[in-house]
Amino acid sequence: YEGTITIPVVINIIEQFAGQVTQNQINSQIRILNEDFQNNNTNTSSVPSEFSGLVADVDVTFVLGSVNRITNTKASWGTNDAMKIPSQGGIAPTDATRNLNLWVCEIGGGILGYAQFPGGSNATDGVVIGTDFFGETNNGGVYGKGRTATHEVGHWLNLRHIWGDGRCNRDDFVADTPTSDAPNYNCPSYPTVNCRSTDMTMNYMDYVQDDCMYMFTSGQNDRMRALFVAGGSKEGFVN
Ligand code: ARG
Ligand code: ZN
Ligand code: CA
Repeated sequence: YEGTITIPVVINIIEQFAGQVTQNQINSQIRILNEDFQNNNTNTSSVPSEFSGLVADVDVTFVLGSVNRITNTKASWGTNDAMKIPSQGGIAPTDATRNLNLWVCEIGGGILGYAQFPGGSNATDGVVIGTDFFGETNNGGVYGKGRTATHEVGHWLNLRHIWGDGRCNRDDFVADTPTSDAPNYNCPSYPTVNCRSTDMTMNYMDYVQDDCMYMFTSGQNDRMRALFVAGGSKEGFVN
């Protein structure tokens, strides 16, 4: 698909007390998604020259849609989609063929966020972000800069982890991302070499801290955009 893609974002907040999730979190999260998917963030100049020719402007504009809020004192929702199901205390998604549904709740288990890949049920489509990792937060520490959503929206748009969830011989189905062995954490120094190539540790689809991830590649851009062509699973967003 060619051209700007506009994605309305419906935010479904399940908070432990009214006002736990702030307007600043909501606004900063939308801003950060736009910066990251438009290659317009302040870190992009740090991309090493080895990779600078691969950096993509995905040209997606995220627009804040409705914000739905309920309170529920549940301490951890886990990753079984209960937060998306009203009979289990959750909030049902709003028309997943035309909106990115984003749930904010306490996930627990040290999980920052999770996403459903394309092709799944509309009833559970979208991404879930832990309360402390949604937008700019102090509680999130090195994960308080809103990039969990960038990573999870990457999955929602069909991107695999940069290391292909395997060892050097597993693929992420993107030709211009180098083969890697395993996730990188923290803030790796450049160059970090595995599988006889430099790891693209600064890719949003690695597991580094928020400050240290700041690029998608052209190949990842193509893979995401392929969903929006006629007959693609996200064509409803562009017509
Ligand atoms: N699903 C991953 C996790 O929960 C998300 C990692 C996001 N990384 C980040 N730097 N925010 O661990
Ligand atoms: Zn992931
Ligand atoms: Ca690759």
